[in-house]
Order: sequence, then C-alpha cells, then structure tokens
Amino acid sequence: MYIGLDLGTSALKAILVDDDERILAEHSVPLEVSRPHDGWVEQDPAAWVSAARVALRAIREQHDCRGLRGVGLSGHMHGATLIDAEGDVLRPCMLWNDTRAAAEAAEMDADPRFRKVTGNIVFPGFTAPKVEWVRRHEPEVFARIAKVLLPKDYLRYALTGAHVSEMSDAAGTAWLDTGARDWSNDLLSACGLTRDHMPALVEGSAPSGDLRDKLGIELDLPDLVVAGGAGDNAAAAIGAGVVRDGEAFLSLGTSGVLFAANGGYRPDPATAVHSFCHAVPGTWHQMGVILAAADALAWLSRLTGRSSSDLTAGLGPLRAPGRTLFLPYLGGERTPHNDAHVRGQFLHLDHATDATEAARAVLEGVAYAFADSRDALAATGTRIDRALALGGGSRSAYWLDLLASVLGFPLDLPEAGEFGAALGAARLGRMAATGDGAEIATRPPVARSHDPDPALADAFAEGLARYRAAYAALKDL
Ligand code: XUL
Repeated sequence: MYIGLDLGTSALKAILVDDDERILAEHSVPLEVSRPHDGWVEQDPAAWVSAARVALRAIREQHDCRGLRGVGLSGHMHGATLIDAEGDVLRPCMLWNDTRAAAEAAEMDADPRFRKVTGNIVFPGFTAPKVEWVRRHEPEVFARIAKVLLPKDYLRYALTGAHVSEMSDAAGTAWLDTGARDWSNDLLSACGLTRDHMPALVEGSAPSGDLRDKLGIELDLPDLVVAGGAGDNAAAAIGAGVVRDGEAFLSLGTSGVLFAANGGYRPDPATAVHSFCHAVPGTWHQMGVILAAADALAWLSRLTGRSSSDLTAGLGPLRAPGRTLFLPYLGGERTPHNDAHVRGQFLHLDHATDATEAARAVLEGVAYAFADSRDALAATGTRIDRALALGGGSRSAYWLDLLASVLGFPLDLPEAGEFGAALGAARLGRMAATGDGAEIATRPPVARSHDPDPALADAFAEGLARYRAAYAALKDL
C-alpha cells in the first residue's frame, strides 16, 4: 500500500492505494488563500501541516495501514516558504499565482544567465523573484532565512524533519540548472543566497526521508519511505501516464496547464513555455500555464452566487461563440504573455447577457487561453495530437467539447477515479519503496473522448482572433 498526498491550492488530498491501485481510503481538507493586496496570494504553511495531520489520521481510521510501504508528496509549485534556523516559518508563503515580484522578476530576467541556465523566463510567480522581493521589502526577514522550501517540501520537512526537494519542483524556482538537474551556484549567488539555503535534491522517484522520523510516530504509522515526489503538474503526469515523448494532458484546475512530456530537454524561453525536469530520472517536460482556469469560473460563481456546476448545467450542446468575450487574466498571465499587470475583461455585454451567457464566455475565454498555450508549445516544435483531460473543470462536458473544438484535437476523459496528482504521488512513493520505474506510470482507462466539431472550426478561429485582438487593444489601459 502507498499514500499519495497532494497539497492543492484549494484542498489537501490524501489517498491510500493498494498494489493494484485500488483506492482503499481517501480524505480531503479544504484550504483557503488570502489576497491581502492586488496581485498578492498567500497561504499559511501551518494550515498545510494541520491539513496533512487530519488527512493522514482519517486515512488511518478508514483502513488498516500496517502494509503501508511508501508515501509520495505533490504540491502547488513555486511558493516561497521561508524558514529560520529553528525551522520556524518566517512569513506567509507567497504562492505560484502571486505576482507582486513583477519588477524583481523583470530585472532578473534581463540578466541573460537566468534564461540560459534555467531554460525559462523568470516569471514573477517563480520562487527566486519572490525571495528577492523579500530581500528588498522585508530585509529583516531575508536576513533570518536558513532554508527556502517549496510548499510540498515544507510539508516533507514537517513530516520527516528532512530538508529535501526534487527536480520537477526545483525547476520552477529559477535557481535550477534544468539540463544538469542541480542548483546553480551562480544564480543563487546573484540573489544573495548559497547552496546552504537550499534543500538537498533527489529525483522524484527516489527516497527522501522516513515518516517515522517525525509525524509517523505520532500517527502510529509503520516504517515507510517518503519519495521525492513532484510539483503538482509533474505528479499529475505520473498519475495519468504522461511520461513518454508526445504524451500530453490538459488540466482544468485552479490554474490551466497544457503539459507535454519530452524525450529530452527542450528549452525555448522566448515562447513563455515552461521547460522543467519531469519526476523520473532523465526526463523533462514542457507546459503552457494559465493563471486562472477553473479559478475564472470560481470567480464568476462568487460574483453570481451560483455554483460552477449550476452555471454550466444549462449550456446545452456546444454552439458557436456569441459576441460576449471574456479575457481570464484575473491575476495576470504567464503563457504566452508573461504579463503580471493585465487584468480580466468582459467585452460586448448586452441586455440579454445573463449568468449563463457570462459563464459561456468565461469557458470560451479560458479555451482561447489554452489555444495560446498550444501555439506557444508548437513554436518550440512540440505538437499535441490529443491530450487527457484532468482537473475539476473536466467534469463539464460542455467545456471539454468547447476545448476540443477550439484546440482542434481530441480530449480523452479518464473513467471516474483518481488519476491526478495524488495518484502520481502514490506512484512515486511506490517507486521509492520498491525500485519500480516509469513503467508503472500507465495511462488510465478512458471513459469518453471529446472530438473537435469541424462545423464550428471557423467560428472558433474567428473568436480566437477577436480574443487576441482584445488583449492587444486593452493590455495597456
Ligand atoms: C505551474 C503553476 C501551477 C501551480 C498550481 O507552473 O504555477 O500549475 O503548480 O497548481
């Protein structure tokens, strides 16, 4: 048996699986984000630890854990969790979608060493510019930093006492030499840091510590190895069997991700595509990242007081886009614009625009944002022919039909069950415990495929052109 623990932005989820990957127990604990200022997004790391305690206790109550052999961790990427020499957290964690460090990121990105070594733009949401922001705005906090940990790596520290990260998440810091899979001394020193401030690095499928060293004793869990794990996107790819060149997934979570596994390291920073290490040795991946995907629908849901499923329930069969246009840039955008300052837009509202039509426009806007990521990936030479659909938003059949038609390739929806980051984390836990490799990262059974509707291709191409023209016209207003 193996546990997968996925620290998501809106919930922490734990699953217990047996050797045949049957789910024996699962438990989710909701998490809040706070947005104290425009562009700031924070979480309290103590909330992750108490959520992990609650979830692991619930798993133990649901099922006998004596046969447990490994645990894997997954988590939202890029967050800066700063701890002092005693292991105490110095300030709230600035999350992946926090863009306050836009000025610091632009300055770092202008130093050619960063793109050359990391293979990526220094995006404001990455870890390094956020720590630079702390150096400039909270120097007393910066002076006390003993370790900079990514969110799931802080959870590992709380669970095992070990300061360890792994390649897939480390690649999102802007301090990793992504081709060499090692910290860059040069980039760290450009930020006033050294290797001592960083956790040790392992591969995602390698052991990183033992739960019995800390929380395992309190929870009376057996001796079991904690795998390196992965950032949530690489973990989802392991869970969905997206490891080999040409395999891809589209995730409709809080963020939107179009993810392609690569046979080798294929950086192309100018496209704003992310090129990161994958979670198993000797593999890499690329992805286009949209900051608000299901989060854009969640925003409309808060605005209208109607749940996301209620808003999408009345949409009927897929139809050509209306005139109402939505740009989902509620907190800025990464791929392809790297624009922290742009904000969301509703255009062409009229008297007939009700909540359902507004929801249709939101789904269309997010689909167009995915088309931008498709084209950014294509500009690097990565062509996607079909993709698995993952994440909470994939429950909407309308959204998947729409995405398939806008993107021009089929989307495969896995059968009901767990095929996301938590399963990927559990698989990495198994690899670390048994020495199994990427061959256990198999693809899930597909419940149904959503094919593009050729009759709507022109209408959506025109919608995409309007969407792009709207961004160009409005971005500086
Ligand atoms: C990826 C990214 C998000 C987070 C949250 O670069 O920022 O997908 O990992 O899920």
